[in-house]
Amino acid sequence: MSHEKVETNIGLMALLIILVISVGGLVEIVPLFFLKDTTQPVAGLKPYTAVQLEGRDIYVREGCYVCHSQMIRPFRAETERYGHYSVAGEFVYDHPFQWGSKRTGPDLQRVGGRYSDDWHRVHLTNPRDVVPESNMPGFPWLLKNKLNAAKTAGKLQTMRTLGVPYTDADIAGAQSAVNGKTEMDALIAYLQVMGTSIKTRR
Ligand code: HEC
Repeated sequence: MSHEKVETNIGLMALLIILVISVGGLVEIVPLFFLKDTTQPVAGLKPYTAVQLEGRDIYVREGCYVCHSQMIRPFRAETERYGHYSVAGEFVYDHPFQWGSKRTGPDLQRVGGRYSDDWHRVHLTNPRDVVPESNMPGFPWLLKNKLNAAKTAGKLQTMRTLGVPYTDADIAGAQSAVNGKTEMDALIAYLQVMGTSIKTRR
């Protein structure tokens, strides 16, 4: 009997298990690459400006994603606190996305516009100056470090290769847009645009 053959031959069984899991996985995953909901930007989504893109790199470098997610789930407890739940079309220009998987601090997806630039500057320098019970670390060096403007155009160029619609003018102007700015300026510019392509209740 063929069933007995499979059950008594572990090699054959392993092979068949791999086959079944692969087909099952592909059937679920592949359609996502062709769905408009997951591949098209939401209306109003703009590519990051040169300064915001540099800020995003600081966010990654400093490991903000270790404590902060950028992914609001469609549950009332989350939408009441953070605003509209996240949709896939908001992340099509994010390479790589910063959804995160741990919330030591609050989700940051809709933090854009919630606080003033000054609040962020004080908070990022020493969080306890504005939130006394905070256990978030300070990042005071961001105030002093200047961005390396020589690399910015190349970063936009790379993003364009990945499908972000930067124009030649965006790339040509990248260096002068970033020149002289501090890492703090850039990080705040990034935080302030975060999640703003969708209108929220907050
Ligand atoms: C060790 C964990 C940790 C790290 C790393 C961390 N944070 Fe936080 N963050 C927190 C906690 C906890 C809070 C809540 C208390 C507070 O507001 O300070 C918070 C709050 C915030 C808030 C206010 C959010 C709100 O809705 O009130 C912002 C903005 C923020 N963090 C940005 C950042 C950025 C940018 C970085 C990286 C430079 C970062 N955090 C790194 C733990 C962290």
